[in-house]
Amino acid sequence: MESMVIQGEQRLSGSVRIGGAKNSALPIMASTLLGKGSCRLTNVPQVMDVSTMARLLTHLGATVESDEDRFSISVNEISSCRAPYELVKTMRASVMVLGPLVARYGEAVVALPGGCAIGARPINLHLAALERMGAEITIEHGNVHARAKGRLRGARIYFDVSTVTGTENIMMAACLAEGTTVIENAAREPEIADVAQFLIKRGARIAGAGTDVITIEGVAALRGADHQIIPDRIETGTYLVAGAITKGDVTVAHCRPEHSEGLLAKLSEAGADLAIEKETIRIRATQRLRSVDLKTLPYPGFPTDMQAQVMALMAIAHGPSMITETVFESRFIHVLELQRMGADIRIDGNHAVITGVERLSGAPVMASDLRASACLILAGLAAEGETRVARVYHLDRGYERLDTKLAGLGARISRTKERP
Ligand code: EPZ
Repeated sequence: MESMVIQGEQRLSGSVRIGGAKNSALPIMASTLLGKGSCRLTNVPQVMDVSTMARLLTHLGATVESDEDRFSISVNEISSCRAPYELVKTMRASVMVLGPLVARYGEAVVALPGGCAIGARPINLHLAALERMGAEITIEHGNVHARAKGRLRGARIYFDVSTVTGTENIMMAACLAEGTTVIENAAREPEIADVAQFLIKRGARIAGAGTDVITIEGVAALRGADHQIIPDRIETGTYLVAGAITKGDVTVAHCRPEHSEGLLAKLSEAGADLAIEKETIRIRATQRLRSVDLKTLPYPGFPTDMQAQVMALMAIAHGPSMITETVFESRFIHVLELQRMGADIRIDGNHAVITGVERLSGAPVMASDLRASACLILAGLAAEGETRVARVYHLDRGYERLDTKLAGLGARISRTKERP
């Protein structure tokens, strides 16, 4: 297993280019199952989850060719409708092949993803919606088995909880359903609008993506199309925090500032100096930041995927801050590791109360999930001495060359193999 070794207290400066959004690339790749024709994708992030999705599509019978950030995927026929557990357990986003498979082929067998470090991660809303569209769902030996006699039927779907991949799964399935599907209380994340843009290029009839009501008129078939994946707003936020936590001067290029309003408002409230252009954000923090309170919410609220990273920043801010996690039930695992670095944090239910300290101290820590790993790297950048973050495979799932990009900003960071 590999670790990341960071020598802290190094001010970052310079410019970093943001890659494509992992959480847009994954559903878009899954949606290629919906029709024949070649789909050429660009600005695809080179991260492990994308490789896993490519392996899953190949397992199902797709032809997948890639060259750096460019992917060409065609699915003329499938050889299997089964997404096996060994693939699904490493990447829960595999569940997004469920909607396209049952919509186009009338059958899908997808291993239940199970929980993960941040919560139970149920998919009950995905399944209930597919049943309303006429699919017969059974759970057998840890697999979801979805069957549809003929085409799915359009339906009115109301999601009790705003679910990102649930909205995407049903939006994709509805593209080929008979009649109209209306999704109410749909998730509004920018990645959903990106998936919809790609589907519309392929001939789908979708209105309202990006709002909480999405209407899809089913069509008989979808054709191939080309698409450039939007920039990753969470990667954007992670590098902005890297600039702030090291009291540096960092420009994030090739991003979409309008997708990060919630985070930018908090960074500005904390006293960071932000210069925002059409596709770049420059952050400067010459002095210790002020503490701020925040609550994670579905988009356009403050993103849960930035909660851990901003907590690292608040750990050395001036004063007390309260962070409330409302999206996932156990997304505070990184707190225990930050405490090992000297952070003063108290957990009370889904609230974390942070009292900023002057300085964190470097320590050996353990990554537990993708964003917690990023949080610990950021804390290490600011801490006094050396920090070793173990199990960085979590990081590689969703960040492309994070160590190289940080080193390009002046960080003293390197990757090392850990003795087993
Ligand atoms: C997506 O996960 C993202 N993943 C997550 O990013 C992100 O944290 C999350 O949305 C919230 O923004 C991808 O897009 C691949 P949800 P998803 O369904 O869709 C409950 C990262 O770091 N729920 O929006 O799985 C659920 O338990 C990852 O890149 C149900 O109860 O999240 C949670 O409390 C981590 N039943 C809430 O909804 C369901 O059927 C939101 O979950 C589905 C969800």
